[in-house]
Amino acid sequence: MTDFVKLTYGDKIYRLPVVVGSEGEKAIDISKLRQETGFITLDPGYANTGSCKSNITFMDGEKGILRYRGIPVEQLAEHSTFKETAYLLINGELPTQKQLNQFSVLLNDHSLVHEDMQFFYLNFPRASHPMGILSSMVNALRSFYPELQNLEEEINITVTRLLSKVRTMAAMSYKIARGHKVVYPRPDLMYCANFLNMMFDSPVRPYIIDEDVVKALNVFWILHADHEQNCSTSAVRLVGSARVNLYAAISAGIAALWGPLHGGANQAVIEMLTEIAETGGNIKPFIERAKDKNDPFRLMGFGHRVYKTYDPRAKIMKKMCDKLLSKFNIHDPLLDLAQELEAVALKEDYFIEHNLYPNVDFYSGIVLRAIGIPTNMFTVMFAIGRLPGWIAQWKESMDDPHWKLGRPRQIYTGPLERGYVPIHHR
Ligand code: ACO
Repeated sequence: MTDFVKLTYGDKIYRLPVVVGSEGEKAIDISKLRQETGFITLDPGYANTGSCKSNITFMDGEKGILRYRGIPVEQLAEHSTFKETAYLLINGELPTQKQLNQFSVLLNDHSLVHEDMQFFYLNFPRASHPMGILSSMVNALRSFYPELQNLEEEINITVTRLLSKVRTMAAMSYKIARGHKVVYPRPDLMYCANFLNMMFDSPVRPYIIDEDVVKALNVFWILHADHEQNCSTSAVRLVGSARVNLYAAISAGIAALWGPLHGGANQAVIEMLTEIAETGGNIKPFIERAKDKNDPFRLMGFGHRVYKTYDPRAKIMKKMCDKLLSKFNIHDPLLDLAQELEAVALKEDYFIEHNLYPNVDFYSGIVLRAIGIPTNMFTVMFAIGRLPGWIAQWKESMDDPHWKLGRPRQIYTGPLERGYVPIHHR
């Protein structure tokens, strides 16, 4: 039986259906609101707006819960690999051994990038940000790999190409930016090890694959693999709703992720910690600035639109950070500053009252530094991790029989109709 919410306006009562999710979360279906009442809803930043029903990821921001297809992210981080988690997100179920082997073969088959793409890379100005390059190059993939006639085959092959080639393209851009020879993917290596080898192997210093580093990268990518309707995923769904090709939709997601309030925060955290270190290591002025309403400065890596408690991913990332640094005997002064900042911020009234806790980006930069990833590549690392989520969400939207072109409305606050005045009368 459908439950309703009653909306009273003047002497009229409207009944709006209530929608309940599998975890008991509730929504009011307002899809016929304007038709029946003439009203639209106003919700800047869509903070209170559900844009779709989805069976991919569940998160509870108050309890700090994150699950992919029902499986807690903590379990996946401990026992799974990024490749297996990607399969789970995209296909809805964990793979059997046979399915996982087939998936590996496909990823290997599609790991090479068209040689002509190197000319594009070589012609970007040297100072270009890797996220701008990645977004452009992913969009350019359509030109290199034209659409196939068979829709199912087209989707499957595009998904595989993206998962495999974006990893190759990211490593390639790093090598080219340094003026080094590109390292090709190796079919004998697993997904994460292959990426590390493409990034760091060189004829003068062969890269030695360390299982703990591989594990750290698997965990980093698993933790970033999906996060329901965040800014970049919503961009992928919105752009995808115009029925553009998947490369173009993912390219839009990469562009959105670049922003410092979203995926760009991992780079911004390291830049902030470096600035603190370079100005004498005193965190107090930075805490004061973050609290000052007249100062646009924010404590990077703190706060989240949905989590109002400690981000569960940040807990795992912090553990990974400690493990990696102690294994390699690295003393990173930025980690000391991060821990000091966290300890002070968590005790300050401002941060408690605003529910501001470390998010995934607070410690991820330190993990990436320990692996050897340069700071300007941090958000690219996030993008590779988020690919399975973007793809799964895009696929779900394409298969949704009720899916519509994304097109919000607005409340117009500009001038009323007025006549054009010729320039000599102005
Ligand atoms: N430092 C200081 N104050 C903050 C911070 C912060 N990091 N984050 C939020 N606030 C304050 C705001 O000033 C505002 O205060 P007010 O109500 O007194 O005016 C209040 O908290 C609410 O902030 P909003 O921006 O409205 O909250 P929103 O939910 O939109 O913000 C966001 C979420 C954008 C992530 C924000 O917390 C932020 O800017 N954090 C820093 C950037 C960051 O770490 N981004 C990564 C997010 S995780 C991810 O995308 C992977």
